[in-house]
Amino acid sequence: MTDLYAVFGNPIAQSKSPIIHAEFAKQTGQELQYTKELIPLDGFADAVKSFFSNPNGKGLNITVPFKVDAFNLVDDLTPRAKIAGAINFIAKQVNGKLLGDNTDGIGMVKDMLNLGWTIKGKRVLILGAGGAVRGVLQPLLDQDPTSVTIANRTLSKAEELVQHFQSEILRATEYSQLAGHEFDLIINGTSASLHGDLPPLPEKTLSSTACCYDMMYGAEPTVFLKWAQQNNAAQIADGLGMLVNQAAEAFYLWRGVKPDATVVVTMLRKSL
Ligand code: ATR
Repeated sequence: MTDLYAVFGNPIAQSKSPIIHAEFAKQTGQELQYTKELIPLDGFADAVKSFFSNPNGKGLNITVPFKVDAFNLVDDLTPRAKIAGAINFIAKQVNGKLLGDNTDGIGMVKDMLNLGWTIKGKRVLILGAGGAVRGVLQPLLDQDPTSVTIANRTLSKAEELVQHFQSEILRATEYSQLAGHEFDLIINGTSASLHGDLPPLPEKTLSSTACCYDMMYGAEPTVFLKWAQQNNAAQIADGLGMLVNQAAEAFYLWRGVKPDATVVVTMLRKSL
């Protein structure tokens, strides 16, 4: 009667979630099974229904391209999931209803705090205005930065996010308007790194103590992190820690025990 968990996505072969959750289970002495499942593009709702029809099916992680479908499918949503408009986490509650949450933003924030970075009182620049950025904005705003500027190629998408989040410290801009402005924390939430591209950042956007974070990760520093190094960023980090910390938050919500994310980040880093 082992409790069952899984990550649903398409593609899914690359997912490290089963390794991460197996490590968390080992660390905390929890008995559970966590698998990765390739879900047909037109079969998401059926797959979720079938998973939870098994009484041992306790929770799912949801990845690309199903995060918005999952948002629309669950019975209940946490406040941070509601505002994110997409979820990466489902838990079957005691009443049998499905609860959706988004642990991406808290995962990113926790990773930064684990790294010893400060967000409170900082001038934050976030690059991109797609689903990835929308998913992390609320937990970022909750850290009380001085300002959060969203720069995007398509300005209207950044403006939509500003409208949606209704925070006085949030503003939208084009890359060309960034010249002459300085930031303490720059977060790359674009998919540009996937293609080896760099968003068109002007020089001198980094303060002398600036930290740069890429939500993507890889064996080598991303193009954005190389740019950060060339521009004398004080600290850089990629999104491997975000991945592990969003999983740690999910594990905690499902199991009620907090795993140690840092040791799992170190372990995964060696295997990249
Ligand atoms: P995701 O769900 O990963 O956020 P998305 O919703 O397709 O994916 O958003 C991708 C983001 O990366 C967008 O902000 C996109 O900018 P546009 O809205 O202008 O398209 C941004 N992006 C992708 N490639 C980029 C590039 N080469 N330079 C700058 N921004 C890029």
